[in-house]
Amino acid sequence: MSADLVIVANRLPVDRVTLPDGTPGWRRSPGGLVSAIEPVMRANDGTWIGWPGGDDQDLEPFEDDGMHLVPIGLEPDEIELFYEGFSNATIWPIYHDLVAKPEFHREWWDSYVRVNRKFAAKAAELASEGATVWVHDYQLQLVPQMLRDLRPDLRIGFYLHIPFPPAELFQQLPWRRQILEGLLGADLVGFQLPGGAANFVRLVRQRVGHKTHRDLVYLPDGRTVRAAAFPISIDAAGFEKLALTESVVARAAEIRQALGNPRRIFLGIDRLDYTKGIYARLRAFAELIEDGHFDVEDAVFVQVAVPSREQVEQYRILRDEIDRLVGRINGDLGRIGRPAISYLHTSYPREEMAALYCAADIMVVTPYRDGMNLVAKEYVACRTEDDGALVLSEFAGAADELRQAWLVNPYDLNGMKSALLEAYQSDEKDLTRRMKAMRKTIRQHDVAAWADSFMAELATFSHSTHAKTVRPARRS
Ligand code: F6P
Repeated sequence: MSADLVIVANRLPVDRVTLPDGTPGWRRSPGGLVSAIEPVMRANDGTWIGWPGGDDQDLEPFEDDGMHLVPIGLEPDEIELFYEGFSNATIWPIYHDLVAKPEFHREWWDSYVRVNRKFAAKAAELASEGATVWVHDYQLQLVPQMLRDLRPDLRIGFYLHIPFPPAELFQQLPWRRQILEGLLGADLVGFQLPGGAANFVRLVRQRVGHKTHRDLVYLPDGRTVRAAAFPISIDAAGFEKLALTESVVARAAEIRQALGNPRRIFLGIDRLDYTKGIYARLRAFAELIEDGHFDVEDAVFVQVAVPSREQVEQYRILRDEIDRLVGRINGDLGRIGRPAISYLHTSYPREEMAALYCAADIMVVTPYRDGMNLVAKEYVACRTEDDGALVLSEFAGAADELRQAWLVNPYDLNGMKSALLEAYQSDEKDLTRRMKAMRKTIRQHDVAAWADSFMAELATFSHSTHAKTVRPARRS
């Protein structure tokens, strides 16, 4: 069956899992990418190509919740070299300001090329004549050009969900030119922030030698590629509605009760990733107790750390470090029934996340570098009474829009302590003023607006004259 809209992402929206009774089943994959793309998929009866997790090779295409999904199997060595290796131990740290040291291995790169080719071949097979193909994220940067070589009739968009680094960092990559050329196969290359788009255009000019003007790249074959920012968002109305449901309201009260009804609850929710700044934020909180600003009777920090990329060494090291830190802080500062930090190494469904957002007085999002950070936006959407404080890193993409948050430099421990304390002490009027403004922003720039603006730009910009039109995600 061929499709007029094909989504190509490293992951499918569902993961292959083993159910409690031992049989295989499917579970919704975590992360913003899935909820961001779902509305446009549904509006267009699209097909989604992606890896279902694990190393099953022979999974057939299937329907899930009205979406047509096509699994791409990865061999064990591809999981190790392409996914854990090149994607998450080479590209990931380079694109996140070198928060960890990247590794460069030629066999990782070879596997990255092979897997990208596999995704491109599947997209070429499934896309109808003149279809739109939307490729996502850093794992698949070579797919746009590979796909264009196979199917010049297609309209191709690419969106990078993580930051695109400055030239000074990107050019460390031994395969920098191939990656830039891979991306240039798209008609439109989307980034979270204008800075990412500008970095890309500058690199293309310097490293590939193409002519550029503002956000446009002119290719020798006559095509023009546009690089622009499309800051991703969330289903704001959906989260707001969820936060108002009886079960979520009751669960939020239960969480507060279970934590001993302290005056203030601080909350962090992150994938357990070294870019997220979990260690420094917990230290800042602990020091505020040590300095005597508040006590464990007054405040608790709930940190949810979602297990992630556990085979990658840097992630294992981080897990041990956080385990040790939480143990030390609770050992030093906690009392019976009153740990300073309530640490949960798990992932939760949307309802429980919404209940946590509703229960928390101060949301702490302090990554060293983050493409957007949708947790910050979800928290804001759930504060239906215009209360609650957001402490947000200047280095998260979300800081560009959520200007009324307490913005912090996550490398500055004292600065972070001051912001946490100010948020802790702030009065109702100040909280309302800030949260009202942030909620307005999130409502106006929701995920449907994001998908529609990308698709509309792709449609007007694409070189393809016979490409078909994609329907907007938001039905008016
Ligand atoms: O946007 C960053 C991202 O890598 C997404 O591509 C992905 O869905 C999410 O984080 C989770 O990462 P992973 O697929 O490696 O578990």
